[in-house]
Amino acid sequence: MVFTQFGGNSRVRDDIGMMNREDYWKLWREISSDEVETSKQDNFCILKSSSDTGTEQQTNDAFSDKWGAYQESSKKEVWYQMQKDWYLRLYGFASEEEFADFLKSKEIIFDAGCGLGYKAAWFATLAPESLVIGIDYSEAVGIAAKNYPSHTNLLFAQGDIASTPFIEGSIDYVSCDQVIMHTQNPDETFGELVRITNQDGGEFACYFYAKKALPRELLDDHFRSACANMSKEKLWDMSKQLTVLGKNLSDLNVSIEVPDIPALEIKGGTYDLQRFVYWNFLKCFWNEDLGNETSVVTNYDWYSPSNARRYSEEEVRGLVEANGLDVRHFHQEEACYSGRFIKRSHQAKRNECR
Ligand SMILES: C[S@@+](CC[C@H](N)C(=O)[O-])C[C@H]1O[C@@H](n2cnc3c(N)ncnc32)[C@H](O)[C@@H]1O
Repeated sequence: MVFTQFGGNSRVRDDIGMMNREDYWKLWREISSDEVETSKQDNFCILKSSSDTGTEQQTNDAFSDKWGAYQESSKKEVWYQMQKDWYLRLYGFASEEEFADFLKSKEIIFDAGCGLGYKAAWFATLAPESLVIGIDYSEAVGIAAKNYPSHTNLLFAQGDIASTPFIEGSIDYVSCDQVIMHTQNPDETFGELVRITNQDGGEFACYFYAKKALPRELLDDHFRSACANMSKEKLWDMSKQLTVLGKNLSDLNVSIEVPDIPALEIKGGTYDLQRFVYWNFLKCFWNEDLGNETSVVTNYDWYSPSNARRYSEEEVRGLVEANGLDVRHFHQEEACYSGRFIKRSHQAKRNECR
């Protein structure tokens, strides 16, 4: 028998291992303040809540377009595998086995901003008795539900992660990987995801784009606002052109020595030329293993959504602190900051107040 407590409510479960799809929806309803109506597809629903301000809608359209295109890619599986390996590094799991053990101890798992749903499906495979919920604002989540119909414990919904229907403390593991920056108000979304994380043993994993060198930041802002007025065709053309630039620079196979240039926030060192341009001036992604299609989509992903906030380490740590979280794991690399966070216990909070 499993006994779970969340948000002041408690659930007693003695049916784990025997649950069918309807049982998992029942579990969803127990933690949701909204009624859910499933569509013809019994692993998918549309949530009432949504945020539909201008840039959120534009961002949503951009991702619907990106994922619709990427769904057909022949390199999709290679990219998924790279993403899973990266996920383990980002959130401090030494191996997939270690991650599986962690997930199995979490009864309800939430992939916030699940895109095409491959990570949610991975979680559902690693923790076959847990309820895994994948929510995304874009139409990608409908494709996700169609792609992964056979995991009984995996349910998808289209909706806004900044305003979820879940009651306080009801989710045991919230994963928000490469998403929060695209929501309308990332700090508020962060607060919402903290709200639904279980106080007792729950964890919240989150990824933040890192601020880059000054020229890249200034150009990114400038390009992104120009891109908001471009047609989709023009945006795809530009993404292809950036990919050719990235490939050509990379093919040169040239290394350069760069001095520290603190005024421009450029870090000195030995750079491959493509990497130097990429990190300091312009996103011109190219990866030989992933090939042309994935590289084009990666460039499209960067400039097409209007919402794409970048954070400094100080800002990330400030947000974590302001939300009363302790850090379980913190990771940083050129592209991002990521970490796993837990709610500071009531006792610790009481001690702090003394
Ligand atoms: C870069 S993708 C990452 C997708 C997935 N987490 C992954 O790691 O592959 C960002 C995703 O966030 C989704 N997104 C952006 N704002 C959202 C919101 N307010 N609510 C739900 N999903 C959102 C987008 O639709 C998109 O699928």
